[in-house]
Amino acid sequence: MKTQVAIIGAGPSGLLLGQLLARSGIANVVIEQRSADYVLGRIRAGVLEQTTVDLLEQAGVAARLHAEGLPHDGVELCFGGQRHRIDLLGLTGKRVVVYGQTEVTRDLMDARQAAGLPTVYEADEVTVHGFDSATPHVGWLKDGVRHTLQADFIAGCDGFHGVCRASVPPGAITLHEKVYPFGWLGVLADVPPVSHELIYVHHERGFALCSQRSKVRSRYYVQCALDEQVAQWSDDAFWAELKRRLPDDTAAQLVTGPSIEKSIAPLRSFVAEPLRFGTLFLVGDAGHIVPPTGAKGLNLAASDVGYLWQGLRGHYAGHPAELDHYASRALARIWKAERFSWWMTSLMHQFPDAGSFGHKMQRAELDYLVGSTAAMTALAENYVGLPMV
Ligand code: APR
Ligand code: PHB
Repeated sequence: MKTQVAIIGAGPSGLLLGQLLARSGIANVVIEQRSADYVLGRIRAGVLEQTTVDLLEQAGVAARLHAEGLPHDGVELCFGGQRHRIDLLGLTGKRVVVYGQTEVTRDLMDARQAAGLPTVYEADEVTVHGFDSATPHVGWLKDGVRHTLQADFIAGCDGFHGVCRASVPPGAITLHEKVYPFGWLGVLADVPPVSHELIYVHHERGFALCSQRSKVRSRYYVQCALDEQVAQWSDDAFWAELKRRLPDDTAAQLVTGPSIEKSIAPLRSFVAEPLRFGTLFLVGDAGHIVPPTGAKGLNLAASDVGYLWQGLRGHYAGHPAELDHYASRALARIWKAERFSWWMTSLMHQFPDAGSFGHKMQRAELDYLVGSTAAMTALAENYVGLPMV
């Protein structure tokens, strides 16, 4: 089997890249180790920047997003028992759209299937070879049969635990990492959101976030210790802890109900450099991770895809130098989003070793932030997404 671009991973990065390439007449095959249902079962953030919406439009998969996505003109920060609104639209002229990553992935899967583009799910023992040459290939096992796919390029869209980054010789890659000393316990529930906008809460018991998927489905998080187990958290215990971290009038308005998903996620900042190794490119979570504060993960994955799409279109149009810009363009945007996600995480969470000085610094920064149009604008322009240059 032969194609132009072999895409490893059918998460949002792989599926969006596949769709954009196909629309530009560039053949691609997606190889995914899990089933489609498993991929759709993963619950992730759902705040889309305008640049992400633009790329989904260009991929031809934005109809349901426009019909069902919730445009948000602002976001709230809560501390000291008070809620403060950041007017995203007023400060930047831009808004974000709340639409779950699961729905983005479903729309991309449906479009890929409708276009009849080749996709292999449940591929075992996926391996990538020869990417130091112009003839890389991918191997996998499916139903006991071994397959090989030759390609011009391999796009490593296989997430943080994927095979692509792990296949790069250690001496050729530099890894930058920060692991945070806490996690997020998240609950998804079919209850109306407590507020029409997201609320990021700084509280002495720990961070909390009130988010949503729709007008009837909410997503809430509380900061938890890394050694906690989901099984230790009953729904009642979760709702009680969330309420303790909200102002009394907000807690009184919170509608609770049975959880339909509950999980604990660790928080990590991570960047691999460079993102290109010969004919292999790392894209999305395969190349970098941000902590979820600020909701940059999916948006960064989308901008990587945008840059790689641009590079590959250039290559096949006779301008091979376009591809040389992929890593530097993507990394310039990635590092800025890493900084924002790290800053917002540092500002909003309780750190075990902060001490009284650390607490006072956090509080002073929050007070300064909500009293300064300049500081709120800096937050807002990062939250709605920096331009893709
Ligand atoms: N072979 C084939 N597929 C693999 C392999 C492998 N060895 N390893 C992992 N995969 C698949 C995973 O099963 C998954 O479906 O690659 C896909 C990677 O998807 P994601 O982890 O969702 O990563 P990405 O598409 O880059 O999306 C980034 O996900 O984690 C969030 O915040 C992040 O929203 C961002 C988005
Ligand atoms: C979510 O809805 O899951 C979500 C929203 C915003 C974040 C993180 C997660 O910053």
